[in-house]
Formats: sequence, C-alpha cells, structure tokens
Amino acid sequence: MARHLITSAIPYINGIKHLGNLVGSQLPADLYARYLRGRGHEVLFLCATDEHGTPAELAAAKAGKPVAEYCAEMWEVQDKLGKGFRLSFDHFGRSSSPQNHALTQHFAGRLAEAGLIEEVSESQVYSNADGRFLPDRYIEGTCPNCGYDKARGDQCENCTKQLDPTDLIDPRSAISGSTDLEVRATKHLYLKQSQMRDELNAWIDGKKDWPILTTSIAKKWLNDGDGLQDRGITRDLDWGIPVKRGDEDWPGMEGKVFYVWFDAPIEYIACAGEWAEAASGRDWERWWRTDKGAEDVRYTQFMGKDNVPFHTLSFPATILGSGEPWKLVDYIKSFNYLNYDGGQFSTSQGRGIFMDQALEILPSDYWRWWLLSHAPESSDSEFTWENFQTSVNKDLADVLGNFVSRVTKFCRSKFGEVVPEGGTYGAQEEALIADLTTRLRAYEGHMEAIEVRKSATELRAIWVAGNEYLQSAAPWATFKEDPERATMQVRLALNLIRFYAVLSAPFIPDAAARMLSAMNTLDTSWPDDVAEALSALAAGHDFSVPDVLFAKISDEDREAWEARFAGVRR
Ligand code: 2FM
Ligand code: ZN
Repeated sequence: MARHLITSAIPYINGIKHLGNLVGSQLPADLYARYLRGRGHEVLFLCATDEHGTPAELAAAKAGKPVAEYCAEMWEVQDKLGKGFRLSFDHFGRSSSPQNHALTQHFAGRLAEAGLIEEVSESQVYSNADGRFLPDRYIEGTCPNCGYDKARGDQCENCTKQLDPTDLIDPRSAISGSTDLEVRATKHLYLKQSQMRDELNAWIDGKKDWPILTTSIAKKWLNDGDGLQDRGITRDLDWGIPVKRGDEDWPGMEGKVFYVWFDAPIEYIACAGEWAEAASGRDWERWWRTDKGAEDVRYTQFMGKDNVPFHTLSFPATILGSGEPWKLVDYIKSFNYLNYDGGQFSTSQGRGIFMDQALEILPSDYWRWWLLSHAPESSDSEFTWENFQTSVNKDLADVLGNFVSRVTKFCRSKFGEVVPEGGTYGAQEEALIADLTTRLRAYEGHMEAIEVRKSATELRAIWVAGNEYLQSAAPWATFKEDPERATMQVRLALNLIRFYAVLSAPFIPDAAARMLSAMNTLDTSWPDDVAEALSALAAGHDFSVPDVLFAKISDEDREAWEARFAGVRR
C-alpha cells in the first residue's frame, strides 16, 4: 500500500468560505483522501487557515479586534464548518503557527545562502502618525481617473483602474486617516525566481500526467512575455512572520514581515509539524523529507486555478532553491470556478451560499453530492436551485434512498429484520455482478485519476443498476410463486446496501455510515471481488430499517431558498 500526502489550498482566514471555495479544493481533496483510505492506503491529509497579509489585518480592524484574536476566533469558526462538511483533515492547522514561523525563516535563510535573495532599495510611503510604512492598499485618496474619493493605493474600486499610491489625489492613511505622509527609502527582499526558470521548466516538462489546466497555466507564467519575474517576499505589516535569516536578525529588515504568499505554501510543511506535535508517535519528516522516508510518498495538491502559478512555480522555487531534500508535489489537481445563479460567488459582495448557511438548511451530504457531481473540472460550472433540487431528488432520494428503503421494508414485512436464507443465483444475478464489476473498475479508475465528475456519474450508474435489478427481479412478485428465489433476491439486495455504503462513503459519508449501521456491520472492506462482497452479510444476520436517508426538496423549499439567497448576505 502506498503512502499519500494530500493538501488542499489553505483558505484565507478572513470570513466564512462560500460553496465555490469549498468545491475548488477542500471538498475534492476530502473525496480523494477518503477514497484512498477506503482502499487501505496510508494517508496524511492536511489543511490550515491562511492567516497573514492585508486582508487579515483589514478584516480584524473591521471587526474591531486585535489581529491575533480575530484569527484565533475565525480559525475556530472555519474548523467547525470543516467538520460540519465532514472534511476529514488529519490536521487543520494555522499558517501563524510557531512551526510555520520557524520554517519560513529557515527557508529564507537557505535561499539567502544560495544567493537567491536580493535586497532591493525602494521608496515607499511612510505615515508619521502611524509610525510605519504603508502597503499600497493602506493608502486611500481620490482617484485621478474617476474622482472616486475612496480609491486605494493599488486600485480604484470604482473604475477598476490600477494605481500607484503616488497617483492618488489627497492621499491619507487608511489606518488613521492621517495625511502626514512622506516618501522614504526602504529595503525589500526579492526571490530571484528568474534564475530558476530552466530548472522549473524541466521539472514541469517531466510532469507528463498533469492535467492540461495545470500545466498550461504554469507554462504561460514561465514563458510568456518577461517570463518568470523575481518577486518581492517582504511586506510592511505588523501581523505576519518577522523577516529573519533562520534564527538570525536580518539587518535592515526590522519591522518587516514575509509576504503572505511566501509563508502560506510553507504552511503545508509546517502543518505536518503541527500534526506531529498534537499527538505522540507521529513523524512528520517521514512525509516531507526525501532523506527521511518521503521518497515513497505520493503528494497530491488540490487548488483553484488562481493558485496554480504559486504551486507550479513559486513554491517549487522555494523548495528547489533551498537545496534541501524536501518533497515536491507529484500531482496538482486544479479547478475552474463555480458560479452562482447567473453570476459569480463573491465573498466581498456576500453573493451566493456560504458554508454556514448551507448547513443551516440541509445536511452536508446533500451539498457534497451536488458539488462533487458538478465539480468545475473541464470548465466553470453553475449552481442553480433547480438543478440542485433535481439532483438531490433524483439521485439521492429516488435512486439511492428509495432502494435502501424498499429493500429493507420489504424484507421486514416478509422475513423480519434478518437476512433471509435460501435460493441460489440465476442468470439475472450473474449479469448484475458482471455489470457491477465492470462499473466498479471504472469507478476506481476515475477516482484514482481524480476525475471527480466521472466518478460521480459512475457511482450513480452503480446505484441505478441495483435499482433496475430490484425492479425487474421484483421479489414482491417472486415471493408469491417462488419464495426461495425471493429470499435470494432480497439477500442480494441487502448486501448491495453495504456495498453501496462502502463505495459511496467518499461522497456521502454520513449516509454511508447510516447505511452500515442499519446493516449492523462494521465491515467497510473494499469490494475487490463483487460476488464475494455481495455475500458479506450472511443469512441470519440482523439488520434494521433506517429512517429516510434523503428527504426530497419540495418546490416550496426551493422557492424559499432561492428568494433567501437572491440578494447579498445580510
Ligand atoms: O487562494 C487562497 O485561498 C489562498 N489562501 C490559498 C493559499 S494556498 C497555499 F499557497 F498556501
Ligand atoms: Zn477611479
């Protein structure tokens, strides 16, 4: 059995994520992690909150809280919502952890030793009243283009024009409102990524099995226009990881922190350290250091397409540039965007459905099923309430839920809540087993290739096959003429419930757990051999009829939710 390291893009700390964020990395990563565990592989599945940068500082200021306190609270909220969606992280860490501080400073030191860091003198706006340099977006003023009086130093929100702070008319500090600003000389660190262009190109060329979406984005950044630009890795913020070379101070860098995009990917590694610290007997280097056992780890990353350049170029540049034997990613699964009802999901505008709201109206399996079966893989996809209602009602209620309910209730009424004995398979059952075997192998293939939609389609087809079998075998009719045959049919169908639970658990873990508990079994072994798997529950085994697995969404519900989520978040 192989060892699999899986990471999901780490969500920004500021605010609750929407369903588009969820399906863009965390949820498909969870699907894959659950599948691999189900197949008996050793998995380390990590995620964390991305806590640094101006958005975190600004959100904390808006909430009227110190940044550290704000982040700690929002971590709790995100952790709870992740659990609500059954995201099975082995650890949900924080990019502000001591581990990430130490590791980020360590990498900066190594890169400096390798001659890959340049100190660049720049002039930057300094606020005397605030006693600090101001990042571009911390400077406000009037837009020279449209006259909007709350334009930011990086961009005017009103007319979208890209700006320099010095373009603003009547500039002021966004922190204090002070106009006592001056331009001063300061130093920043740049990572000389351009020197690593050939190495990165060669590395990406070796990734023949990567999805086109991933490699095309990486290649575009590497080879278009000026190619890979050196990039500033320090910022003038209070909140962040102080700039140091390993343990040592960095002269001239006092009061500065690393740029959030420098430390965030390093948290993937640091998070494993946090995981190890949380319990005894855990060895994180075994997952991350190729000199300490990680050479036989397969590392898969999940992310939205906007994150791809950072993970195909910047983070690998950090790792390769360190000259140390860190594990590099083996496969990057990236996603397009999920749109909401004719527009985009938007955190800043509060448009769409957010994770907390989703769980208020329906249990997580409903959402997991819809989101995964409509994952924006080959193109953007769109959430509509009508489509959601149809999928839930058809796939989950009519096909899977109905199957479970019919079989268990019929058995209870004729034979009691016990797997009935007697009868042997005929041609119909042999055909079903052959069909399920073909479909199961296809499902496994899609899951291994992380083809999320194709996996969902195949799983649905596997549910349908059981339903069709039940419909045509019709034990309720057979029972009258040939009761022996009916017992065999019912026994097979009850076993199908366990079989479905095991296969479906990566998509709908709660329903799967309820199906297994109704079947009174802890046997979650993967059905390598379908015929064998369908005799796991032997005659005489007790079971119980579960409550309705999936309730249908009524037209009234759909309309009410559509109206509730039509505007912006209150
Ligand atoms: O796009 C995002 O949500 C970022 N917070 C992702 C960072 S992923 C990684 F680089 F750490
Ligand atoms: Zn403007």
